[in-house]
Amino acid sequence: MRVVFATAELAPVATVGGLAFAAAGLGAELRRQGVDVDLVMPDYGGIELADETIIDLAVPSWVGPARLRVGSHPSVGRLHLVSVPGMERPHPYLQAGGEGWLDNSARFFRFARAVAAYVELDRPDILHLNDWHTGSVLAALTDPPPTVLSLHNLAYQGVTDGSWLDVIGPRSAHYEWWGGTNPLSGALALADRIVAVSPHHATEIVTPEGGFGLDEALRNRGADMIGILNGIDTDVWNPATDAHLAAPFDVTDLVGRNANRVTLHGRLGLAVDDVPLATVVTRLTHQKGIDVLAPLVPLLAQIPMRLAILGTGDAGLAAHLHHLADEHADWFTFVEGYDEALSHLMFAGADLYLMPSRFEPCGLTQMQAMRYGAVPVVTAVGGLVDTVIDADLDRQGTGFVAGRVAPEDLLAALFRAARRVKDRRRRQAMQRRMMNIDWSWTLPAGDYSALYAQLEGSSGR
Ligand code: ADP
Ligand code: GLC
Repeated sequence: MRVVFATAELAPVATVGGLAFAAAGLGAELRRQGVDVDLVMPDYGGIELADETIIDLAVPSWVGPARLRVGSHPSVGRLHLVSVPGMERPHPYLQAGGEGWLDNSARFFRFARAVAAYVELDRPDILHLNDWHTGSVLAALTDPPPTVLSLHNLAYQGVTDGSWLDVIGPRSAHYEWWGGTNPLSGALALADRIVAVSPHHATEIVTPEGGFGLDEALRNRGADMIGILNGIDTDVWNPATDAHLAAPFDVTDLVGRNANRVTLHGRLGLAVDDVPLATVVTRLTHQKGIDVLAPLVPLLAQIPMRLAILGTGDAGLAAHLHHLADEHADWFTFVEGYDEALSHLMFAGADLYLMPSRFEPCGLTQMQAMRYGAVPVVTAVGGLVDTVIDADLDRQGTGFVAGRVAPEDLLAALFRAARRVKDRRRRQAMQRRMMNIDWSWTLPAGDYSALYAQLEGSSGR
């Protein structure tokens, strides 16, 4: 079976958030399971390929010259890079100041049109699209292959000017959105199957509260929408072999974990004693609820508990966190930035891992934390519901779940968590349970290939 898999991000080539890791992890596992996957992404510039061939793509003049570079990437293997005017930038979406590139709509409409041209040329058995950047591929295709659309984050829809409806292709009417153009709404109507990245999130996005305005469009699709939980790359996220750690450890031998705990405290400038340390590794956006957590920082000494946040994004929130870290230096550390090596240590050396998300389509970091034995404390949203079981409600519990996304509910969950992790025997029993869970892509990729098999041979919508 041949699949064209189109994405705006792919780790480690272009990484902004979880989309990059989900696309890379799923793509690699599908290949391992024997599916012939073309990984197709924008050519953001500076990406070297070995054994490269170049294909000119037949696109309308508004796209400008479009080419496909096909070759071998050292980490990804075979990779398809789409070059269109304006795509080469130092960051896929953002200017240095954090604002989006002003021509992002044009950039990704051109990318999507070029992907459509490749699909017309290549005629794969299945087309797999991801998020709004690829949504308008289906506007251009009048005879598409059966298509799967994965929804990683409905908060981003790429809504723009209505004049694009005259441009993006013969089926553009499906993309009309309150007088504007919505690259995602049309794809929701035209894809054969829609996949939310966790089963619980699939139930949230069909409600007016959780649907980001697209709930009706999603309800209209009925059983064509399903949820498939993401996985993580368990070769990268393996505490027994992880080069970023101070010492290896695994579920049968947790001793090495303590060396990581000591090293992490040192890196963060925190005293090491038996006060529990909670960590957060995140983008600083409204979604992640860090502003809901911030008011608790002055209260942490009472639990007692220490907190460290590694994150990048919203400049105002970062300034506020720096300020809190200055005021409460004994209990709270903020490291601003995106730091892969430190992120691994933040999971390996923490007692607790905190995720106060307002919404979370899936979330990967709670799985990374559990794999490294850090007990998750999360809100009851999206994929967090599917992955974390409250240990005060269930003997097989793997973490603590706050009732609402509110400081007082988070505080209550933190108190419960701190009590549990101070009890060495119960903490270790919980760590063993969570570290034994299979978070790999094996099962999810199997679900996706079963979905492809259902659709193979049918004509697209
Ligand atoms: P989202 O995609 O919404 O940002 P996910 O939990 O799905 O959230 O994925 C985020 C990914 O990015 C995880 O693999 C996480 O480890 C990584 N990550 C997020 N923030 C940072 C950071 N500041 N430094 C290093 N890695 C980070
Ligand atoms: C998005 C979501 C996150 C999900 C990731 C990968 O970035 O915010 O919850 O894990 O996509 O699907």
